Amino acid sequence: MRKGVSTRPPVFVTRPIPEAGLRRVRDACEVRMWEGELPPPKEVILKEVAECEGLLCLLTDPIDAEVVGAGRHLRVISQMAVGVDNIDLEAATARGIPVGHTPGVLTEATADLTFALLLAAARRIPEGIEYVRQGRWRTWEPMVLLGREVWGKTLGIVGLGRIGTAVARRARGFAMRVLYHSRSRKPDLEAELGVEYTPLDDLLAQADFVSLHCPLTPETHHLIDEEALRRMKPTAILINAARGPVVDTDALLRALREGWIEAAGLDVTDPEPLPADHPLLDLPNCIVIPHLGSATVAARERMATMAAENLLAGLRGERLPYCANPEVYEAR
Ligand code: NAP
Ligand code: GLV
Repeated sequence: MRKGVSTRPPVFVTRPIPEAGLRRVRDACEVRMWEGELPPPKEVILKEVAECEGLLCLLTDPIDAEVVGAGRHLRVISQMAVGVDNIDLEAATARGIPVGHTPGVLTEATADLTFALLLAAARRIPEGIEYVRQGRWRTWEPMVLLGREVWGKTLGIVGLGRIGTAVARRARGFAMRVLYHSRSRKPDLEAELGVEYTPLDDLLAQADFVSLHCPLTPETHHLIDEEALRRMKPTAILINAARGPVVDTDALLRALREGWIEAAGLDVTDPEPLPADHPLLDLPNCIVIPHLGSATVAARERMATMAAENLLAGLRGERLPYCANPEVYEAR
């Protein structure tokens, strides 16, 4: 760490973010920003963190042990996202660097998007749009584009945290039975929302819709693999608005092609982005959208503001309001 406190500490912002947050950072810091539409190459991140005291990054930036190690003067890492699987938290903690993230402010936006995907996949909305655009809509047809009902069906939520719970609340409006699997049981939510704790294998076997809301960790990597997909009903629909690698993409491709499950709605993929010639994109029973969970004007402004507040607190030497590695403070 540098001796003394610089009046306007240099910080690297890895891409333009909403002005609501950027303004706060500019007011207090010397901002260096990567202006590209695509994420900065790793060499650029390495060079910039070597000279900066703060890093404001996005989930597309690989903040691995090498980057953390290169940040000789780095005092805080602030990510504008809730998920921090792109950041080596252990390396940051070992170096005494707190890592900020943005929980809560995107919960409802992401839950809305999850339900939009679920409804779109169940009622085959993208296929319907394509049908009309292709001029194939000649009359009301009794047997065309029949989908699955949502109202009164069973929803299985994997990861009953902030977003999973917000999805469960929406499901109540559709009179759905909600099963959940999470790291720990949630008696309060069971009492309040009537959600039922269910071992993962049983949840997969019983649910009409399986919606993923756990973080990406070594335990959840490929949690939904061939075995899991084969446990699901042939009429079931898988929704992933968590992280792409929670699902084994090759197994999902086979499941959708061979009818182990009926359809999938993916906000996140592995790889991400999915190349335009990826075979998943040829399947009518697979909806893929480009990681839009938190993509509302208001949610992104709140995320940028929260990321700025975390960054500035870290630079002032204060505890981050939203810290992803609170153990960093115990080690001090
Ligand atoms: P959260 O409140 O921390 O919820 C995560 C839940 O997953 C927790 O309830 C946790 O259980 C559970 N969990 C952890 N490991 C598990 C495992 N091995 N098996 C089953 N459940 C497990 O986080 P959140 O704010 O809801 O966000 C969840 C994730 O959504 C983020 O990490 C991010 O990857 C993703 N996300 C995506 C978008 C998007 O744009 N698509 C937007 C925001 C977030 P416990 O409660 O027992 O710890
Ligand atoms: C988005 O995916 C997030 O983790 O905030």
